[in-house]
Amino acid sequence: MDPMNPTPPSAPTRLSDVVPADGQTRIVALTGAGISASAGLGTFRGPGGLWTGNPDLEEALHARYLPGNVPLLWQVWGGLRARAQAAGPTPGHRALAVCGTTIITQNVDGLHQDAGSAPVIEVHGSAARSRCLDRRCGWHGQSAYAVGAPDPPCPRCGGPQRPDLVLFGESLDPLVWAAAETAAQCCDVFLAVGTSAFVTPAKWLVPIARDAGALCVNVNIDDMPPPADPFHVHVIGTADSVLSQWVADG
Ligand code: OAD
Repeated sequence: MDPMNPTPPSAPTRLSDVVPADGQTRIVALTGAGISASAGLGTFRGPGGLWTGNPDLEEALHARYLPGNVPLLWQVWGGLRARAQAAGPTPGHRALAVCGTTIITQNVDGLHQDAGSAPVIEVHGSAARSRCLDRRCGWHGQSAYAVGAPDPPCPRCGGPQRPDLVLFGESLDPLVWAAAETAAQCCDVFLAVGTSAFVTPAKWLVPIARDAGALCVNVNIDDMPPPADPFHVHVIGTADSVLSQWVADG
């Protein structure tokens, strides 16, 4: 419990206590690394997180070090899509797909699409795609790394390719952000799953949804609410167990 925030969060044991999986309620889910944890893809923060163990790596991947850090970007993100495909979607991904939930994801692993969810708004880009390092060239397409081979030079200009991801220090695609904001403003329930809700601007979607009248529910294994807790309700548990139970209760 946060000593600065002594009000205990309400913590129902079941998601179905607060959110009906009835197909009528408009539900938007903001997902983060925690929903892919059981696929073995790892998280960023907290115990075992990529940034927790390698704070220098987080800094080294910043956009300010382009183009010098492109080989490092490939080292970190290159194999991710292939690993995700090999593991397949988790029960958490599958449950959200079964419920027809609109997905806004910070993940770049493509597992929501693999589970059959649509639409999937990828606010941080996709490890399945590459783009030319030179924005003026503008080429983008499927990453060869996604199918297990290093990316060749850009087919349009011959320059280097980079993963089509949003790096620290880069802005989100404005059209993608507009779609995320609209989805957050047009739902009855805004469900955060497996995210620390730490990174801007994605974390702002919670208060955006809340201000628009949505019930904001957080599903996380961590029982510590984020500072200035924007959620109405916390359901503590793994994404797989909480979401699978939710579908079973529906
Ligand atoms: P984080 O690593 O910041 O947070 C993962 C959250 O998932 C934590 O709150 C964990 O407690 C929770 N968690 C872990 N395992 C879980 C499980 N099995 N079930 C439910 N919850 C679980 O990951 P994100 O919030 O996704 O950005 O991080 C946001 C962004 O920060 C990422 O997209 C990435 C990173 O820097 C970029 O690379 C641009």
